[in-house]
Amino acid sequence: MDEVKKGLEGVVVDESRVCMVDGDEGKIWYAGYDMDDLARESSYEELLFLLWNDRLPTADELDEIRTEVQERRALPEGVAELVDREADRTGPMDLLRTSVSALASYDDEPNDLDDPADKCLGVIAKMPTIIARAHRVRQGKVPIEPRDDLGHAANFLYMLNDEEPSEQEASAMDSTFILYAEHGMNASTFSACVTASTLANVYSSLTSAVGTLQGPLHGGATETVIDMLEEVGDASNAESYVEEKVSNKEKLPGFGHRVYNTVDPRCAHFKRHIESINPDAELLAVADAVRDEVEARLGDKGIWPNTDLYSGTLYRELGVPAPFYTTLFAASRAAGWSAHIAEQLEDNRIMRPRVKFVGETGREYVPVDER
Ligand code: SDX
Repeated sequence: MDEVKKGLEGVVVDESRVCMVDGDEGKIWYAGYDMDDLARESSYEELLFLLWNDRLPTADELDEIRTEVQERRALPEGVAELVDREADRTGPMDLLRTSVSALASYDDEPNDLDDPADKCLGVIAKMPTIIARAHRVRQGKVPIEPRDDLGHAANFLYMLNDEEPSEQEASAMDSTFILYAEHGMNASTFSACVTASTLANVYSSLTSAVGTLQGPLHGGATETVIDMLEEVGDASNAESYVEEKVSNKEKLPGFGHRVYNTVDPRCAHFKRHIESINPDAELLAVADAVRDEVEARLGDKGIWPNTDLYSGTLYRELGVPAPFYTTLFAASRAAGWSAHIAEQLEDNRIMRPRVKFVGETGREYVPVDER
């Protein structure tokens, strides 16, 4: 039957054990564990182990994966030089995508798919180093080399700001890594799986995913939300701003979702960390006011806040500049991408959908001098 499912809406492409997103209840289950529990109690390193092994690590296994990530943070010289050379003139997501791809040149066996999680770990460990280095170079500052005695999130903030974060800041950043780590078969994960399904190497699959996440309908919304909140400026302007956008039928970033029929459960976690770090965060009140106005007008249409409405405000309070928000989303989601790549390869079949052809056939070729 040639029924077109635009945007693959509702199309079930495979079975998976990695994540369950319950759009009606507003719940996310990472390998069977409630995301709410993991966002409060776990660490990104522990989540990496969980998503790759479908169980929580023992204390020794957790120490082992922490050490593995710490030991693989440093960039190959050629990639560090690439970041230094291009950071001033290249958008952060373009530079991250290019750098992830360049890492293949420093792997003796880039096409080996025997242990995709291990190869992904090598990339995941380095993404925060790439991001922090690019930010420092753009500021005209000396890049800060990674330390091997800090957790993944704490080390990122250390390399970004050249000072150790407080426990509260490190915990908030670690929570953002967990919150953005995985979300079922979203566009960038699907992109990773399509690439992996051809048995392309891990660097190609992750590069595909980074490129896909960049779009403002997906990960790029983390940055367009901040643009919106800054344009609104003050909570008192929210009503007129939203009224105009809705009457012009313009889509507001940070709202709407293909899966959720209620508020995205990640919002509450981003919000609680903002409130704990800076209850007076200027954009928090604006985000809440915009949210109230959108829910009043579009709630009955199933348009609810999604994860990106508050994430940028938390990143801002942690010292991350707006152009780098989506790169952090990518550094987090690489956990989910890698878990789905590994799952795809366990029982692979190349992805090859169809299109409903509505064009012509049998057209006669006419040489150019007779046209
Ligand atoms: C992420 O898939 C994932 O899991 C993604 C993600 C993850 O963790 O990986 O959750 C991360 O990408 C979150 C989404 C970030 N993007 C944005 O915030 C951009 C703004 N949102 C929209 O562009 C939109 O809601 C999408 C892209 C998120 C979802 O698009 P759909 O499912 O294709 O919905 P649609 O564009 O077909 O809209 C359906 C209706 C339309 O109205 P009608 O034409 O039927 O009358 O809802 C309306 C839309 O106009 N609508 C909105 C809206 N989003 C949808 N109206 C106003 N504002 C919005 N944001």
